[in-house]
Amino acid sequence: MTGCKILITGQEVAKQAKKKDNQILIGFSMDTLREERWQKDKAIFEQKVKELGGDVKTLSANGDDNLQLSQAEQLISQGVDVLVVNPHNSKTTAAIVNKAHKEGIPVIAYDRLIMNADVDLYVTFDNVKVGELQAKAVVDHMAKESKGNMVYLGGADTDNNAKLFREGAMKVLKAEESKGKIKIVYDQYTKDWKPEEAMKNMENALTANKNNVQGVVAANDGVAGGAIQALSAQGLVGKVPVSGQDADLAACQRIAEGKQTMTVYKPIKSIASKAAELAVALAKGEKIEVKNKVHNGKINVPSVFLEPVVVTKDNLVQTVIRDGFHRMEEVYKNVPKDQWPK
Ligand code: BGC
Repeated sequence: MTGCKILITGQEVAKQAKKKDNQILIGFSMDTLREERWQKDKAIFEQKVKELGGDVKTLSANGDDNLQLSQAEQLISQGVDVLVVNPHNSKTTAAIVNKAHKEGIPVIAYDRLIMNADVDLYVTFDNVKVGELQAKAVVDHMAKESKGNMVYLGGADTDNNAKLFREGAMKVLKAEESKGKIKIVYDQYTKDWKPEEAMKNMENALTANKNNVQGVVAANDGVAGGAIQALSAQGLVGKVPVSGQDADLAACQRIAEGKQTMTVYKPIKSIASKAAELAVALAKGEKIEVKNKVHNGKINVPSVFLEPVVVTKDNLVQTVIRDGFHRMEEVYKNVPKDQWPK
């Protein structure tokens, strides 16, 4: 990441979006709609492009690499002006970029980076920071001295973000470990981000350590949900701090109930609107100025980083509820009304 200004235009990237008619058409190739957040990403992105006068065609691949490639080909053959890709597999999707570029279609990587390809633009949150925030919050909730045994439950190893979340978390955890405050006793990725896989991993971590676990850094709310199920079977819910990410409704409810310590809120409105604006601007061949770049193994990709926000019991109201991300009645559904924040 750097702070220099990078100027790109629709002409410079790829070969310039081919304008077959005056109507702008943006293709949105998504990995999945399984986690709650992606449904928000889709709805807001489509809405914003429409507001800006364009149309969107979205296809979701349900975690299937081959399907994502064929769906992207479908979008390319339908004459999209710009292709926005949220990759399931950060490596194999390089083929999508190459195919789009052959047709002169610029590609924006959405939330997750595409590796080893000439990606034109990348819009995301500061993912290393997400990991740091998760680990810090869990460590801060553990006993002051000799904090204990820590479990790290990561995301999908096919997702470059999962590596960045882990990198950020490990920065914090290794520093604590070197001070003798914690011991990392388990460290695993979670296949395809599946909560049931996370539950199995958490069960294994508990068994291997005879339930002697004092903290769990879980990479997102789905993983946290799986971990909390395993903790629940051992009567440890609410006793062992657990992190998360995405501010899913179920996670916010668990935070309100004291079952999950924190989540990382990434305002989906910001990323989806920003990506929509940039996609439309690229389609029009306008100049785009971004401040950062990130190396993807092949080139420095011009990048836009948005700020993630920590959410705990103390600021649910000032963050997700204030933003209209979730309603108070939903978040506090399982909490007696006299205990709701004033
Ligand atoms: C996203 C997270 C999401 C995860 C699973 C990551 O790439 O950044 O917000 O929870 O994928 O879909």
